[in-house]
Amino acid sequence: MRKPVIAGNWKMYKLLGEAVDTALALKPLVANANHCEVVIAPVFTALKTVADRLEGSNIGVAAQDCSTDSDEGAHTGEVTASMLRDVGAKYVIVGHSERRQFYCETDTMVNKKCQAALAANLNVILCIGERLEQREEGIAERVVNGQLSGGLSGLTASDLDRIIVAYEPVWAIGTGRTATPEQAQEMHAFIRRVFADRYSDQAASEIRILYGGSVKPDNIAGLMSQKDIDGALVGGASLQAQSFAKIVNYKSGEE
Ligand code: PGA
Repeated sequence: MRKPVIAGNWKMYKLLGEAVDTALALKPLVANANHCEVVIAPVFTALKTVADRLEGSNIGVAAQDCSTDSDEGAHTGEVTASMLRDVGAKYVIVGHSERRQFYCETDTMVNKKCQAALAANLNVILCIGERLEQREEGIAERVVNGQLSGGLSGLTASDLDRIIVAYEPVWAIGTGRTATPEQAQEMHAFIRRVFADRYSDQAASEIRILYGGSVKPDNIAGLMSQKDIDGALVGGASLQAQSFAKIVNYKSGEE
C-alpha cells in the first residue's frame, strides 16, 4: 500500500513569525491524519525554527531546493542538502517548474540535486510536468518521460525508497486551472509505466506520485479517488492552515 503524501509548498511567502504561526495552527488540525504523510516546505530562513516547533508532531518539514553540490565550498548563496538535514528538513523539493522556468534549471542539475539529497538522507520530491504549449502539441508524455530519465539518471531501485514524484502540469500551477482527475490519472498511469520500464513492476507499484497544480479543498477528493494519484503538492492553498488542513483531511472532511 502506498501511503499518500500531502505536501504544502509555501514558496517565497511568510516571514519567520508568520511561518511559525501557520505551522503551529496546522499542528492540531492535522494531528489525527494518520492516513497520509503531512509535509510543509517553508523558506530556508524559517526551516529550522519551524522544524524545531514541529518536533514530535506528524508534520515533516521540507526544503524547497538544495545545491547540486554535496560538499561545502565556495558557492555563494547555495545550501547543501546536508545543511538542510542538519536543521531538521526530512524532504527536499527538487526541480519545481518555477526553478526550471525562472532559474534555468536543467534535468542535469535536477539529477545532481537528487543525488545530493539522497546522499544526505533526505526524501526527494521530484517535480516534473509539461507546459501548456507542449500539451497542446501532443508531446506532454514525451516531455515528462525526458524529465524522468534526466532526473533519475544513475539512481538505482533502492534509491527509489526516498523518491516521491510530483506531476505538476505547468499550466495548472497557480492558475486555478486544475487538470481534471481523469487527465491527471492518465499521466500518473503513464509515469508509473515509465518506472516499470526503467526499474521493475514492483518499483512502479511502490513509487508515490503526487499531483500538483491548483489543488484546493474542493478538488482534492476527486483527485485522490484516482488509482494512481498518491497525494498532492499544494501551493497557494497550503498557505492558510485551515485550507491546507481541509486538503490533508480530504478523507474525513474534517478540518
Ligand atoms: P498551486 O502550486 O497549488 O498554487 O497551483 C502548486 C505548486 O507549485 O507546487
